[in-house]
Amino acid sequence: MSKKVLVLKGGFSAEREVSLVTGESVAKALRHKGYDVIEHDLQNGFELVRVLEKEKPDVVFNALHGNFGEDGEIQGFLDILQVPYTHSGVEASLIGMDKFLAKEICRQNGIKVAEGEKKTYADYLQKGTTILMPYVVKPVSDGSSVGVFIVKNKEDADKVFYDNPSREILIEKFIDGKELTCMVLEGEAYVVTELRPQKEAFYNYESKYTDGMTLHVLPAEIPDEAAEMCKKYAKKLHQVLGCNGVSRCDFRYNEKDGVVFLEINTNPGLTSLSLVPEQAKYVGISYEDLCAKLVETAVCRPIKHD
Ligand SMILES: Nc1ncnc2c1ncn2[C@@H]1O[C@H](COP(=O)(O)OP(=O)(O)O)[C@@H](O)[C@H]1O
Ligand SMILES: [Mg+2]
Repeated sequence: MSKKVLVLKGGFSAEREVSLVTGESVAKALRHKGYDVIEHDLQNGFELVRVLEKEKPDVVFNALHGNFGEDGEIQGFLDILQVPYTHSGVEASLIGMDKFLAKEICRQNGIKVAEGEKKTYADYLQKGTTILMPYVVKPVSDGSSVGVFIVKNKEDADKVFYDNPSREILIEKFIDGKELTCMVLEGEAYVVTELRPQKEAFYNYESKYTDGMTLHVLPAEIPDEAAEMCKKYAKKLHQVLGCNGVSRCDFRYNEKDGVVFLEINTNPGLTSLSLVPEQAKYVGISYEDLCAKLVETAVCRPIKHD
């Protein structure tokens, strides 16, 4: 009998729309592979419990991004319900979603990060920052370049805005150079993609999700040592955090600074435009096989009475 998979998509984060697209393409691919697939747009926890009780899926495919989906919340929920789910568990998801914490773990493991500090937006407005321009301001936990500001001068600094004063932000030295990304699938890193934005000076939300706005150079046009470093860093962090299934690390690279880690995505996008499916395809793993691999590696935290 084929496995029953509930594809969990949508959710409550700023990346809801991307998640809906990811969820739809994953569901389609899994149906092609012969799985019995149900799609569920996460709007309410009680409703999810009712669907799980009714459908009794063997696996939840976690196609959520951002808060509640990628940060350990849904993972803990499914652990308690004892339903196996794709991608990482609570701890890796939580650390991965927190750009500050993830950088701390990198630092402890010899992965180079940009100098930076964490504070609330209110604090930044009142006291400014010790980081010299040019710098980047971004939310500690959000994805898809939502709320990322590049500050090169006073005018840019005036544009930094968040509607919540207590929002935690990261102020980080701007690393000039190339934008790189590397997937780790079942513990292995294969290839590095270089992202060349065609319009904006940086890789923003619009260019990430609009076809043709960003050129994906695969493999990246960087020295071999730099590519090896990206793969080594991505594999190391995946392993140290105890990630499951697939993860993707973003980096910047220039000759002077070398490879600098930006962030890890424990639920990287899986739309047709996304980077992970593209790297998988490059190494001979089709989109359908990639989705099936994630289903087959799904787990939840075992309940032990000790
Ligand atoms: N320290 C930095 N130096 C240069 N560019 C940065 C830096 N931090 C972020 N960026 C730019 O902003 C984009 C989004 O930042 P990132 O940390 O990857 O967060 P997310 O993708 O979750 O929004 C990056 O892809 C990069 O183009
Ligand atoms: Mg990123």
